[in-house]
Amino acid sequence: MTLEQLTKDVQTIAIICNQWGDSGKGKFVDYFAEWADVIVRGTGGNNAGHTIVTNCKKRIFHLVPSGILHKDKINILGNGTVIDLEVLVGELDELTRGGITYNNLMISEDAHVILPYHVKRDIKRNASQKKGAIGSTGRGIGPCYADKIARRGIMIRDLFNKDILAKKIGKAKEYYQEQDIDIEYIVEELGLYAERIKPFVRDTISEMHEFIRHGKKILLEGAQGLLLSIEFGTYPYVTSSDSSVNGVAAGVGLSAKVVDLPLGIVKFPYMTRVGAGPFPTEFGGAKSEGYCASGLEHDIKYELKNYRISFEEKNGSIEYNYHDPKIIELMNSNKPFLQGIGIRLAGEEYGATTGRPRRTGWTDLAALKYAIGINGPNIILTKADVVQGANEIKLGTGYNNSENFTRDSERLRSYKPEYQQFPGFKEDISQIKDYKDLPDNLRGSINFLERYTGAGVRIISTGPDRNQTIIKDL
Ligand code: IMP
Repeated sequence: MTLEQLTKDVQTIAIICNQWGDSGKGKFVDYFAEWADVIVRGTGGNNAGHTIVTNCKKRIFHLVPSGILHKDKINILGNGTVIDLEVLVGELDELTRGGITYNNLMISEDAHVILPYHVKRDIKRNASQKKGAIGSTGRGIGPCYADKIARRGIMIRDLFNKDILAKKIGKAKEYYQEQDIDIEYIVEELGLYAERIKPFVRDTISEMHEFIRHGKKILLEGAQGLLLSIEFGTYPYVTSSDSSVNGVAAGVGLSAKVVDLPLGIVKFPYMTRVGAGPFPTEFGGAKSEGYCASGLEHDIKYELKNYRISFEEKNGSIEYNYHDPKIIELMNSNKPFLQGIGIRLAGEEYGATTGRPRRTGWTDLAALKYAIGINGPNIILTKADVVQGANEIKLGTGYNNSENFTRDSERLRSYKPEYQQFPGFKEDISQIKDYKDLPDNLRGSINFLERYTGAGVRIISTGPDRNQTIIKDL
């Protein structure tokens, strides 16, 4: 099937993740950006991260939508997002330095603002997994959304009225008594940022309604993943927004009903999680969770050095051979903990925002079956190329004491996964363009996924580049 056939009669596409995030949304937002007129984010803030290449330099951006480089397309930060102005203005400066204009940006006047007191509280209470906290990204996301729900949040529109701003911060101060909040200083600082972003601030909800009326093609860019959703995830080990298709639609001022093609991304046949929380299929279980909880102590450089894998540092980024024989050996270890490290290195699974090692495990089909109940049956598989050389592939098919996934974190922790096993594949799949040319073993596991979950695989990604994309016939 071609991209034209897939998008026939489609006005609105959403790219969301059906797992715990980091599944490759960025590549597909970029892929469908060509098709879209408007690219819009509806949830989260600078807890997310995606790579944008400016002046031949790869940079990770956290706030501006992934379509910003497409000058003829409108890029929107929607009403459901939370915005750290220092980070946003930093990203705009970065674009300017890269010679990129951004007159195509709109910022919702209804979005909430992350303030320094949110960040401080988040770091203190939620960021460290060692003290039993959830291991947030420490960007102030949770406290900012908490203020929004408690009706004491600061919105983008408040930035343009100093009296209202001072009054609101004064009110918020009562809830942050552990901090020495200097209202005057914050108001002054926000005033400077406000001037900078003023040309882009709009009633983006009304703009979205106009775009829909005028038949513009809309691309909703999800953040995080369904299993991290405040509504549908493994609460309390979740982020503070609804990262489902419903949440991203609400976060841009639309109903999920107008999303013609929600595409849920699924890392396959392995998946990852960052931060604390249950993960039944994790390689090495609690040992891996504890090891990854030490965060930057076990970052990419540490692991490469520790397992004697050669690498080079170029322009601040680390380069190595993902199929290094030592990595394949780890991936095929009979010790699950080491197997997890092998997959992490083969897939370069380290947080884009925090650099933390991501926890790894086989793809849990019971969790996926649950996720598609909310995000719909159309899915994209990513990163299968990573497991080239693995002797076997396993897929989670429920648990010892239940067929079904549960959001109840305590219960989920007690579940032991059951697996369906498949032989691995040795072939390089990164240049394959046709579904039928994929290795039989891989296709066998994909057929199994479709039968088990009821999902329909629409696209298979075989590498990070745009052209490493196979659209599958129905
Ligand atoms: P917060 O969103 O910073 O509050 O973090 C809450 C939880 O969501 C933590 O477990 C984070 O590791 C996780 N999280 C937040 N953003 C992302 C993301 O973009 N990818 C993966 N995990 C995320």
